[in-house]
Amino acid sequence: MLTVDGPRLLSALEELGQIGAIEGGGCARLALSDEDKAGRDLVVGWMKQLGLAVQIDAIGNVIGIRAGQEKGGREKIAPVMTGSHIDTVRTGGRYDGNYGVLAGLEVVRLLNDSGVETRRPIAVAFFTNEEGARFQPDMMGSLVYAGGLGLNEAYAAADKDRRSVGDELRRIGYLGRAQPGVIRPHAFVELHIEQGPILDEEKVRIGVVEGVQGISWTEYSLTGVSNHAGTTPMRLRRDAGYVAASVNVFARALAREMGGNQVATVGALSLRPNLINVVPNRADFTVDLRNTDDDKLKEAEARVAAHIADVARAERVEVEAKVLARFEPVIFDASLVDRVERHAQALRLSTRRMPSGAGHDAQMMQRICPTAMIFVPSVAGLSHNVKEHTEAADLLAGAQVLANLVVELASE
Ligand code: GLV
Ligand code: MN
Ligand code: MN
Repeated sequence: MLTVDGPRLLSALEELGQIGAIEGGGCARLALSDEDKAGRDLVVGWMKQLGLAVQIDAIGNVIGIRAGQEKGGREKIAPVMTGSHIDTVRTGGRYDGNYGVLAGLEVVRLLNDSGVETRRPIAVAFFTNEEGARFQPDMMGSLVYAGGLGLNEAYAAADKDRRSVGDELRRIGYLGRAQPGVIRPHAFVELHIEQGPILDEEKVRIGVVEGVQGISWTEYSLTGVSNHAGTTPMRLRRDAGYVAASVNVFARALAREMGGNQVATVGALSLRPNLINVVPNRADFTVDLRNTDDDKLKEAEARVAAHIADVARAERVEVEAKVLARFEPVIFDASLVDRVERHAQALRLSTRRMPSGAGHDAQMMQRICPTAMIFVPSVAGLSHNVKEHTEAADLLAGAQVLANLVVELASE
């Protein structure tokens, strides 16, 4: 067995974590920002040092390929692919995404150092804009890769300052020539931190991920009338802020009532004019709903929409809704999931089968090839938070499972 070099993996995580570092130990590398470019340049440099052939596609996905034994191989024999993303939310940690990419490079380094050739090529990828914090939808690069979103539609997605994906890709030098999705992997395996509390609470070392829950993102813009906070009787108000607040409260109550895996979040909210003594005439906010069961997710969507319509009508506030992302739940390849479990157990690591609460590039890759994920614990379940942390021993354990599985897949 090739043994993962712990200090090497940890120091790579540390070095990438310095780019866009923010107070508290986290990272801000929003997709296609200057910080994202700097992170990309660092990782591409590492890929080249490892001798990988680096391919950048037209949505900015970066794939580093280690040739397999079969010559002329790259076109003829499908590579085993691993990877994740290196963009972060504005208040992100240093493990979300980055861990999976750097662990993939560690697998390559191990093979290089021990002079092992595999039958199939091994590809390590990082996909553009997984987070969706700046441009929607999330998982954009892998979605385009899997054929679920056209390039022109992706290029047109714009951030709050009206800068588009297409322009920003060009500006940072990552609008590549390769056609997304030309390489169809033999299998895709993504290693990731859990980002939730289950493994940490249950003291389980490896999460065997069976699928990803469905995701529904909607942006609402409400328009009422601004007026004097002291003189306007309650009966005459057309308060957009009040309607927004009621949606947040309703969404929480709905998720509690529905139970199971239903979650609901109002994560972004802005009021205008946002002054203490003015009734808000405008509220812009987002609703993030997720469930492993698509019928239940549809029910949650319908009930939130009905609530907004009712309260807005009574308050005489106008509603505009825009769907930013909608993905059905995904079930990973059963036999690959079994293999994740077997490899973890062979290393005497405790395992637990579980769904993923967060979105991942793997959920898009499952559309085009057998896919699975490996989770490691997140201390206290914190993620999308600068305090996101995973113990070194767990980072190494997950990387070792990945290495063993990728090497096995690459010998097929
Ligand atoms: C992506 O990280 C998401 O699940 O929101
Ligand atoms: Mn992630
Ligand atoms: Mn994330």
